[in-house]
Amino acid sequence: MRKVLVVGGAGYIGSHTIKSLSKRSYDILVYDNLSTGHREAILYGRLVEGDLSERDKLKSVIEEFRPDAIIHFAGFIEVEESIKKPLLYYSNNTVNTINLIEVMLECGINKLIFSSTAAVYGNPEKTPVDENYPLNPINPYGQSKAFVEKMLQDISRSYDFNYVSLRYFNVAGADPDGEIGQKYRKATHLITRALKAAKGEIENLEIFGTDYNTPDGTCIRDYIHVSDLAEAHIDALEYLLEGNDSDVFNCGYGHGYSVKEVIETVKKVTGKDFKVVETARRAGDAPELVANNRHLLDTLKWKPCYDDLEFIIKTSWNWELNPKF
Ligand SMILES: NC(=O)c1ccc[n+]([C@@H]2O[C@H](COP(=O)([O-])OP(=O)(O)OC[C@H]3O[C@@H](n4cnc5c(N)ncnc54)[C@H](O)[C@@H]3O)[C@@H](O)[C@H]2O)c1
Repeated sequence: MRKVLVVGGAGYIGSHTIKSLSKRSYDILVYDNLSTGHREAILYGRLVEGDLSERDKLKSVIEEFRPDAIIHFAGFIEVEESIKKPLLYYSNNTVNTINLIEVMLECGINKLIFSSTAAVYGNPEKTPVDENYPLNPINPYGQSKAFVEKMLQDISRSYDFNYVSLRYFNVAGADPDGEIGQKYRKATHLITRALKAAKGEIENLEIFGTDYNTPDGTCIRDYIHVSDLAEAHIDALEYLLEGNDSDVFNCGYGHGYSVKEVIETVKKVTGKDFKVVETARRAGDAPELVANNRHLLDTLKWKPCYDDLEFIIKTSWNWELNPKF
């Protein structure tokens, strides 16, 4: 049985990936400090509570478990917070990833799947964006991930070390079986906020900018269902385990929806109307951010199953109404 250490596995994407790993019969160990994750989200495998900054603990866990590979989700993810507290992001997302890689090299573990983000592209001039597009992050969050990507490139050239970096676009939805979903500190993502508005927990849902050069004037994003994204991790893992070289993949469906389309779909799925307020643009929002996912489709065995905005929103709504933790 192949062994995988899932760092940050108690979080939103990590817990869905654990479910996918278990379906493909992996032996799973989770290392997580539970800062934003939840013990109850780990449906399979064991949890060791620990922080990536605790090098000795991390080393003893890795030495004892001897994973075939590590999937690394741990990090902070809020753009606004990263602008207010950049050092927090460089410390947790960048420095702590250095800790992890150093310990991996010391223990002779040489395969890593890394959670990156479309935020490394910043505000691209053309979209769909492919993996060769220059990285130009416009906030500390995106920069903290871009640093890691650069580091991984250098490390894989100098050591016997291979990685896959997955650049996620807009991750959304919840487990179609309703067992797990996103439990967040702050609802910042559009779909989540729209569902909160449908539940009456938010009075006004804001649209930031209606004068973009897009068909309806609002921003367009590529929404990928979290369970499809989870599967991409296992496909990337198996790609590395088969002995392939390091690579980088965009993770999205290759087409997008506008803010207004998302809101209309939320109203349709939930059957609730709510007040929408049109306000000014937010600094740093790209008009359109859509993945060119050709490389992912051509290279890995990945096949999307849930490329359907209504389905994505239905699974999130189901989780909102019946959260299990
Ligand atoms: N959710 C998205 O839309 C999105 C988009 C692009 C990229 N990502 C990346 O995917 C990864 C996972 O995102 P998520 O949405 O599941 O976030 P999350 O906050 O739900 O999960 C992160 C997990 O890492 C753990 N963690 C954080 N710092 C740690 C540390 N120092 N030591 C040990 N554990 C630690 C948390 O407790 C949590 O369980 C992040 O690295 C994020 O940057 C997420």
